Amino acid sequence: MPSQGSILASPNELPYTTRHISPWYGMTVRSYAKINLGLRILRKRSDGYHDLETVFHRINLWDDIVLRPTPGTLRLETDRADLPADSSNLCLRAAELLKAKAPAGAGVSISLRKHIPVGAGLGGGSSDAASVLLGLKHLWSMRMSDDELRSMALRLGSDVPYFLGHGSAYATGRGERLELIPLVLPYWIVVVVPPVHISTAWAYQHLRLSDRPPQRSLKDIVLRPLPELQDSLAQLSNDFEPLVLESHADIREAKNRLSGSGAACALMSGTGSAVFALFADEDSARRAAKAVGAEGQALSLTEPGFSPPVPHIIPD
Ligand code: C5P
Repeated sequence: MPSQGSILASPNELPYTTRHISPWYGMTVRSYAKINLGLRILRKRSDGYHDLETVFHRINLWDDIVLRPTPGTLRLETDRADLPADSSNLCLRAAELLKAKAPAGAGVSISLRKHIPVGAGLGGGSSDAASVLLGLKHLWSMRMSDDELRSMALRLGSDVPYFLGHGSAYATGRGERLELIPLVLPYWIVVVVPPVHISTAWAYQHLRLSDRPPQRSLKDIVLRPLPELQDSLAQLSNDFEPLVLESHADIREAKNRLSGSGAACALMSGTGSAVFALFADEDSARRAAKAVGAEGQALSLTEPGFSPPVPHIIPD
């Protein structure tokens, strides 16, 4: 089992590209988590969603999704008893949407191996759904335009479209209007996940929106050249923090500990519960991870410049 961005080692495997894949065999799709480098909620829209501004950035933590052709049927099994294996699971919903456009007889058995904590603001469910779309498109040899795939992804969730592509992105709208940005983050990223599930719908419902003065865009903040970057990162904020930190002492505690351990920046990701911190050097990152990890919270460590291939497909 390769490392999951653990503090002991980092994976260093060559990615496979899709040209290695035969439709007769199965594949594993490695489905990476994200953090939000800042999250601003701008307004509530008439369709019930909120317009937002964020920067999505991948971290070295992933779920494995094994796809095996099984003509005519769709099946899902997971290694987590608390996750549904029916159509309320985004992986199966993604397969159903794609099957409606696939050649007759297309089918798949999906096996989901979870490592990304659920309800943590790390986009695990959304990433899995996007990986199923990408993996099945190859497995079933489907020709679809990027636009078609993107609109299918958006039906599954606001941040699913981000997970269809490679790299970091500046996102607006519901989170689906994406601009790829050339972000090579020169920091070690420590992610701590207190054992609390936060419901995204709950967080949006209880958010108190307030007017804000004009600010630099999050894209400008993260794309500063190195000498200015550390000061610039101090301007990142997450609008969900006041609500979530107020009601969850362990998330508040994780953020305080990371902030106090020499991080250039410590912030909640998405609607929580995950908190990430950026460190200029590996030693400080590992020390902070060890100190906070001692509290029994899930951990991940990502090296500077991390940017995995998407889709990351490993043929059988
Ligand atoms: O799109 P997704 O299914 O991930 O959203 C879950 C819930 O979060 C939505 O039903 C909505 O209540 C809220 N949401 C929102 N504005 C967004 C994204 C999500 O209000 N941009």
